[in-house]
Amino acid sequence: MNTIKTIGVLTSGGDAPGMNAAIRAVVRAGIYHGLKVMGIKRGYNGLINGEIFEMDLRSVSDIIKSGGTILQTARCEEFRHEEGILKGIKMAKVFDIDAIVVIGGDGSYRGAKDMSRLGMNVIGLPGTIDNDIACSEYTIGYDTAMNTALEALDKIKDTASSHERCSVFEVMGRHAGYIALNVAIAGGAEVSLIPEKTFDMNKDVIMPIMAAKNRGKTHFVVIVAEGVGKAMEIAEKIEEKTGIEARATILGHVQRGGNPSVVDRVVASKMGAYAVELLKAGKCNKIVGMKDSKVVDYDIVEALDMKKSIDEYEYDLVRVLSM
Ligand code: F6P
Repeated sequence: MNTIKTIGVLTSGGDAPGMNAAIRAVVRAGIYHGLKVMGIKRGYNGLINGEIFEMDLRSVSDIIKSGGTILQTARCEEFRHEEGILKGIKMAKVFDIDAIVVIGGDGSYRGAKDMSRLGMNVIGLPGTIDNDIACSEYTIGYDTAMNTALEALDKIKDTASSHERCSVFEVMGRHAGYIALNVAIAGGAEVSLIPEKTFDMNKDVIMPIMAAKNRGKTHFVVIVAEGVGKAMEIAEKIEEKTGIEARATILGHVQRGGNPSVVDRVVASKMGAYAVELLKAGKCNKIVGMKDSKVVDYDIVEALDMKKSIDEYEYDLVRVLSM
């Protein structure tokens, strides 16, 4: 590998609070280590189209506290095919980019892995609210998204309690139940439905609600991860089967925005700086992750073969603690 002099940075996939903190860290640590840093707009689309510009120290002033991503983000269909990836690599060469830091989720890593296979140096940083990157116990944006969801849930519980209703609360996570599970624990929900677990309406929803009612509870919360089913339909079923009035709330993209929490700012800052340190040390084609609360790295191919699963203990805890 030739010495790396110029690096590119892009954000890809769904945005996540803390992505800006990661961009800032890559830019500042990059310049600190004597590298030229190029911002790539709109994820892989911007790479293909040459939406690339030099970033200086001041270009990231004050962004650590902002949600979203100043580089914008996108999901890029063209990058699913080798032709698109080769176009991207060619464009990177036009701008003398020796390595690209990709901040994003699983889908973005697939593009990064393919780029590395075709000769471009890459480093991946885990940026997604879903916390579903197998090689990392934490992903940038997860804490903020959970806190946003929890704040809303606390409010919903006030009204559910006043009206003695059941609230069905849908949080994000088409394929991952980490937000749903932890918000259920933190918000004292009776039931949490997540894509990793199949569920039986009667056994897993109706019966726990009726059991809670029989123990004297007068309001109930069911957390539903987006990937599980329609919150509205689940609420209707609950009302029909239990006679308890039910309402559904879908929180949606509000979970993706907002000022990043301390955790997200610090993790993003550490991971961004770590990515630059890897490149300075000549280490490429890695995914940065977190293990035992420490920032670590894995080979990109190995990282993408890893599996992550829901903690069964946490899953059971929802039921145990909502007695
Ligand atoms: O991956 C992050 C995420 O917010 C998922 O939780 C959700 O399923 C998906 O993105 C929504 O994507 P979009 O913004 O394209 O609707």
